[in-house]
Amino acid sequence: MKPNTQAKKEMVQSMFNNIAPKYDLLNHLLSAGIDKIWRRKVRKILTPDQPEIILDVATGTGDLAIELAKLPVKKIIGIDIAEDMLEIGRKKIAKKKLENVIELKSGDSENIRFEDNHFDAITVAFGVRNYANLEKGLREMYRVLKPGKKAAILEFSKPASFPMKQVYQYYFNHILPAVGRMVSKDKSAYTYLPQSVARFPENKDFLYVLKKVGFKNPGQKRLTFGIATLYSAIK
Ligand SMILES: C[S@@+](CC[C@H](N)C(=O)[O-])C[C@H]1O[C@@H](n2cnc3c(N)ncnc32)[C@H](O)[C@@H]1O
Repeated sequence: MKPNTQAKKEMVQSMFNNIAPKYDLLNHLLSAGIDKIWRRKVRKILTPDQPEIILDVATGTGDLAIELAKLPVKKIIGIDIAEDMLEIGRKKIAKKKLENVIELKSGDSENIRFEDNHFDAITVAFGVRNYANLEKGLREMYRVLKPGKKAAILEFSKPASFPMKQVYQYYFNHILPAVGRMVSKDKSAYTYLPQSVARFPENKDFLYVLKKVGFKNPGQKRLTFGIATLYSAIK
């Protein structure tokens, strides 16, 4: 692995381990609860496919996995590189008595420890932006997905029109980093967030990457004025 790729992975891992205790609180606070509506959209896009085994990559504290457990699934596996995020997720899962359905494991999106063509669906919420090597992560997701099945990827995006664009830029670049820093006590995490969103190849650029790694019929749905986008594609 290239030294700067390894450095990004270690930086992301230690940042999420560091903010883990405050992650859920900040998520819901900073998005005014809209993040829950976005995760529900991921569940809805998968509902017609009736997946039995789902992989939730970059699962963090497991909120998407917990939402997906409302589907009639047999098993949901969540993987993440930040063990402290997973530990909080495991406690939430135990509280909801979902241990038989959801299993959270340490795992890297760029080296997924499952055989080819294993899962009926793959999801990622607010994770792909953090991958050290985006293409490698997407290729791995493609590999472990069964042919004909769907990947659903939720990620932040930037609203393009007035006045939401201006409101968003002010909020994302000024208010969010200040509140994030105060609550999480992590100096850089909530400065990294707007920076990583700014750098991420969104819209047609991301659809292009999905196609490049082999996915068919890539599509997108802009959510809440384009603050987030739900991408989907078929293997
Ligand atoms: C913003 S959080 C999202 C967590 C969760 N999916 C959610 O919706 O709340 C991003 C997560 O991606 C994880 N992550 C980043 N790079 C990863 C990688 N290469 N493999 C697995 N997880 C990764 C981080 O550790 C972090 O928990």
